[in-house]
Amino acid sequence: MWKGRFSQDTSSLVQRFGESISYDWRLFPHDIAGSIAHARAQLKAGLLTEEEFSAIEKGLLEIEIDIREGRFEFKTSLEDIHMNIESELTKRIGAAGGKLHTARSRNDQVATDTRLYCRTQIDGISGAIHDLQKTLVGKAEQYAASVMPGYTHLQRGQPVTVGHHLLAYVEMLQRDKGRLNDCRRRLNVSPLGSGALAGSTINLDREAIAEELGFDGVTRNSMDAIADRDYIAELLFVISMCGVHLSRLSEDLILWCSSEFGFVALSDAHTTGSSLMPQKKNPDVCELTRGKTGRLVGNLMNLLVAMKGLPLTYNRDLQEDKPPLFDSVDTILLVLAVNTEMIAAMEMREDRCLAAASDPMLLATDLADALVKSGVPFRTAHELVGKAVAESVKSGVPLDALDLTAIDPAYTDAMKSVFSLETALAARTNPGAPSVANVKREIERWKASL
Ligand code: ARG
Repeated sequence: MWKGRFSQDTSSLVQRFGESISYDWRLFPHDIAGSIAHARAQLKAGLLTEEEFSAIEKGLLEIEIDIREGRFEFKTSLEDIHMNIESELTKRIGAAGGKLHTARSRNDQVATDTRLYCRTQIDGISGAIHDLQKTLVGKAEQYAASVMPGYTHLQRGQPVTVGHHLLAYVEMLQRDKGRLNDCRRRLNVSPLGSGALAGSTINLDREAIAEELGFDGVTRNSMDAIADRDYIAELLFVISMCGVHLSRLSEDLILWCSSEFGFVALSDAHTTGSSLMPQKKNPDVCELTRGKTGRLVGNLMNLLVAMKGLPLTYNRDLQEDKPPLFDSVDTILLVLAVNTEMIAAMEMREDRCLAAASDPMLLATDLADALVKSGVPFRTAHELVGKAVAESVKSGVPLDALDLTAIDPAYTDAMKSVFSLETALAARTNPGAPSVANVKREIERWKASL
């Protein structure tokens, strides 16, 4: 492509070192769509005849089919997807193919392709998150009233319901979708026409190209447009954040399916056995989700570090943006799909959840609240309940069986009515709190909005 200036061929080692076709081939549908829009603008500008434009369009669409059907032979010597397609086009249609790159550089071309790729993938990831949310809402509905302990510091804190716990993840995933949406909105501008870095002396209709490609507008500074990879970093962050959410869910499930907790039974189809210990049933899907999240975070770091020292505008370092991008997109899509399937098939062990929540200690805070309602300041109430807890621990008498009035006259016998999980949950009616009525309302809200 640059033979005019050079008298030696590129060393084969440099070809191997510099090629990106082994991975950027997957940009082909976007590269072709971008080229067709660019050619149409050339036609309108009088740079191509109708015949030339038709030959280019037809040639590109045929190449697209050949790539899709595995008939296209990618050449490492042609470095990347852009040159592979252009070179093949010229081979097929002759001189008109050589006109396609007028007023365009691979720099604005690759920026266009990756924006289109990210946009498509964002839609796919959003859809996959949506599916997982629906599955979680379905499980939350099934276990809306199943009581379980809620934890802080991984110590039993207060009773919640399984439905409430699962809906917490639905909230996180909703924020992930919001972030994907933001990212999509910001990236959806067309860099085509920015050329290598300084636009072109041949002015094509940038707005028309943008419109054909579904962009909302055009980039406003050619140098920024060429150097910008913020949209990839942003997407890698959003994917990492989503991964972190699923990793936390994984950790909950890993704990829950241990014998110690025994809160959940994952299906045989979503667990694995041990090659040595016949009794084992391992939550590998959860562990791999947790493990792969490290890769997602690493991919984000990879790109940020690659970008941090780059002068404007294009530097070849930027070619390294694609392996982490593709890896994160592939990984999160697989993670979302497998988790959706696994969660759909899991069964909560409601008896175990209830047993774990039935320790009266989980209602110590409710007892303090009862004292507060009778006029005791909260700090005093906290101390009085602390004394009762200490007495229970020392004597081995459960908190709800102690003679509280003997500990302090502020206690009344009626206060013992707090020791009912049903009462405790029913009282938590403020928005966001886990009363069964609230949880059911939230489930209806999610069902309507999803
Ligand atoms: N394969 C290159 C990349 O991914 C395309 C842009 C090449 N531009 C250049 N000036 N060498 O970044």
